[in-house]
Amino acid sequence: MSEIDGDAAERSSTTVEGPLGLLAELTYRCPLACAYCSNPIELAAYRDELDTAEWQRVITEAAELGALQCHLSGGEPLLRRDLADLVRTAAEQGLYTNLVTSALGFTAKRAAELHDAGLDHVQVSLQADEPALSDRIAGLPSFARKIDAARRVRELGWPLTLNVVLHRQNIDRIPEILAAAEELEADRIELANTQYYGWAALNRAALLPSREQLAEAEVVVREAKERLRGRMEIIYVIPDYYATYPKPCMGGWGARQLVVVPTGDALPCLAAHGLPLPSANVREHDLAWIWRDSPMFSAYRGTDWMQDPCRSCDRREVDLGGCRCQAFALTGDATRTDPVCHLSPDHGIVEAAVAEANEERTPVDLPLVPRRERQRN
Ligand code: SF4
Ligand code: FES
Repeated sequence: MSEIDGDAAERSSTTVEGPLGLLAELTYRCPLACAYCSNPIELAAYRDELDTAEWQRVITEAAELGALQCHLSGGEPLLRRDLADLVRTAAEQGLYTNLVTSALGFTAKRAAELHDAGLDHVQVSLQADEPALSDRIAGLPSFARKIDAARRVRELGWPLTLNVVLHRQNIDRIPEILAAAEELEADRIELANTQYYGWAALNRAALLPSREQLAEAEVVVREAKERLRGRMEIIYVIPDYYATYPKPCMGGWGARQLVVVPTGDALPCLAAHGLPLPSANVREHDLAWIWRDSPMFSAYRGTDWMQDPCRSCDRREVDLGGCRCQAFALTGDATRTDPVCHLSPDHGIVEAAVAEANEERTPVDLPLVPRRERQRN
């Protein structure tokens, strides 16, 4: 990209600290078809997955760069038959290993293999608290298997985190979802409203909750946090469309997280594959160069790239102008202020979506486009 010059790359290589974590998106194959999925729409472009040795090199290089955590995700990482080998490599490198899974395929045998390989932590996704809604959102009968798998996590002594992506169609069931989590003895539950990337962006009208739903959810979560203090940690993330200021996405561009997608492209976040930046692939470059010097990672580091109003805003070091991918998706220009910000000249785009979500006649259960519908494989 033209705005990234040699000086910028040189500056970044001398000042950038290593990543905190590697998010290894091992495969975009998945048995589920969740309409809120942040995976890319063009799933067929990701068939040529890194092999075992390539992933092991990536994991080793991430550890050498200073990463402390390795999150194994996807798609469904259990579809990789070499998952235990990759966990073992990460554990040998001293990384804290975290499996992010739908739990389909988390059989007793696979669980034992992963335990032996040194897996530290398991995050299981739940779509709802009961089979009918959960299976409709997941696009597959899966609820019972998820509950079994969550129990298996506890039986093997792992800490259990439940990931529940919240949206218009399940946010009214937070009390029941929390009751299910208590029954499963989860250590932690993440109730994170949908971020609108990939398939979720396509399904935004069916997913964005109303103001009334959110107000109710906040009361329920506040009471539950009080009641469950010391027993279960509750992380609640509101939809940023309703926020006044945007989130400092990923803790800043190229600041903390390193994502590697199934085909080896390294990205600063989950959604950067859509941005007009030259790709940085681990098959062509080592991770140290990618992290420190590649245009992909240098492009929006710090604040030099900003336009007004961010450039002259007091909060520019606080939220770093918000999410570059959201700015690009909504305005076509990744250097613009995230339209979520009420100071953004493009804020009307977000206001229009919020207005639609609050129209009287908008039903709660609009049809969802399952992610597999456009999958060509
Ligand atoms: Fe943040 Fe930019 Fe909005 Fe200021 S103008 S609050 S820096 S997004
Ligand atoms: Fe890419 Fe926010 S998801 S910067």
